[in-house]
Amino acid sequence: MKYSSQKVAMPYFIAALALFFGQIVFGLIAGLQYLDGTFLFPDLPFNVTRMSHTNLLIVWLLMAFMGAAYYIVPEEAQTELYSPKLALVTFWVFLAAAALTLAGYLFVPYSQLAAMTGDAILPTMGRGYLEQPLPTKIGIVLVALSLLFNVTMTLIKGRKTSLNLILIGSLWGLALLFLPAFYFPDDTVKASYGWWWIVHGWVEGDWELILGALLGFILIKMTGVDREIVEKWLYIIIAMTLMTGIIGIGHHYYYIGAPAYWIWLGSIFSALEPIPFLLLVAFAFKMLLQRRREHPNKAAMLWALATPIVAFLGAGLWGFMITLAPVQYYTHGTNFTAAHGHLAFFGAYAMVSLSIISYAMPLLRGREANSPSAQRWEMTGFWIMVFSMIVITLALTGAGIVTAFLQRSGDNPLGFMQVQDKERVFFWIREFAGLGFFSGLLVYLGSFFISGEYDYASEAKQALSA
Ligand code: HEM
Ligand code: HEM
Ligand SMILES: [Fe+2]
Repeated sequence: MKYSSQKVAMPYFIAALALFFGQIVFGLIAGLQYLDGTFLFPDLPFNVTRMSHTNLLIVWLLMAFMGAAYYIVPEEAQTELYSPKLALVTFWVFLAAAALTLAGYLFVPYSQLAAMTGDAILPTMGRGYLEQPLPTKIGIVLVALSLLFNVTMTLIKGRKTSLNLILIGSLWGLALLFLPAFYFPDDTVKASYGWWWIVHGWVEGDWELILGALLGFILIKMTGVDREIVEKWLYIIIAMTLMTGIIGIGHHYYYIGAPAYWIWLGSIFSALEPIPFLLLVAFAFKMLLQRRREHPNKAAMLWALATPIVAFLGAGLWGFMITLAPVQYYTHGTNFTAAHGHLAFFGAYAMVSLSIISYAMPLLRGREANSPSAQRWEMTGFWIMVFSMIVITLALTGAGIVTAFLQRSGDNPLGFMQVQDKERVFFWIREFAGLGFFSGLLVYLGSFFISGEYDYASEAKQALSA
């Protein structure tokens, strides 16, 4: 850590991890409710569990992105953050808004929450990931504006690196792409358009640029490779992302009442969307091979190299499998979609967040890297979580395929509940793998409490004697 104002990243990272923990608890409850539909009913109905799970996901990722921005922007700009105080106030506002919203979900029936928070004046609620009441949505915009003001002012007074421009530009994009959340017309086709501009626009457009910028920063720092090389890669990755991802949004327009040409446009362009993810893998390994130094933080290197691989599998491969129109015809909205959603969100955005946390947290705590034993814990947590998520993905994929065959095709398709019954084995596997994931998360979180910093002298002695 080079600038003392970078310290404001710390509360963001800690809150991100705490909310991540909450997300997984709700995931486990949702998984149990699949197996026993009466579990915690009516106190905690499935729709509430599910939206708590997905909303916590989005909030903790935003927390991590903001923390990353407050950490990276001053270091890249070679100057203190414009206003560390504003960043801290913003943190507490965001955390309080998130906590109040979650309490609203848990303790007030959703329709009543909508009535209480002005949904009649400007309807925005009730869509997946965008379930937040109007005041929360306005709060999100204000928090984003505060972040953008702060980092943009920092950029203006400091050094303007390409990496900083990409990062800050994509944070502006993130905020602008949230605005369709306030557009919820009665026309369901138009409403779907607006919803996908956010959901798809974020994960298959703007956030990919954030992903590239964060990985780029970590890899510059850890490998010592020239930033010119990193920037060239990032430009190509950004170009490919935008060329495929913008029109690729058509893969959500196939059967929603949109013009038929989207069948072709969506299929062709979205089929190319795995390319930028593949480029990210190539980029990360190229940096590894050209590295000019051995960074003592092995755990952060593991996260940073694994992120593009798992992102490619979840977004690129699992996304590709369901993206062509004739396939979507059968798999739309099945657990195949959830399989893809889990591995993509985890591999790309959860893992890149954990990468920057792994790199920056030791520095924020005043050391270049944690002790080897703390790193071993962290890496054990890494492997358990990654392995468990792959099992969750395979289980959900199995369930999705069964639905496509038994419920969506053939001469005598079965009813939804009959098919759900036949898929129970997959839901059991998901739940056990979920428990595995939870234990991996505990091991990972535990690594923060193992004291000690990296001791160069004793490591060197060990290496010599070995
Ligand atoms: C990291 C990037 C990505 C993330 C986080 C992500 C996440 C998701 C999520 C959560 C959904 C479900 C949305 C819903 O609730 O209805 C979804 C749907 C979908 N994704 Fe992705 N995705 C990513 C990249 C991709 C890519 C690269 C492709 C294509 C190659 C793709 C293809 C699809 C398709 C076709 C659907 C619609 C599935 C359906 O409606 O049944 N995704 N994605
Ligand atoms: C203990 C591990 C987890 C379990 C048991 C779990 C379980 C669930 C369940 C039951 C749902 C609802 C599916 C439905 O509505 O049919 C869900 C949705 C979702 N979860 Fe998880 N989850 C876990 C971890 C995660 C992680 C780590 C992430 C991302 C980093 C994640 C992202 C999502 C997303 C994006 C959805 C919405 C998917 C869709 O609409 O297709 N989950 N999860
Ligand atoms: Fe998409």
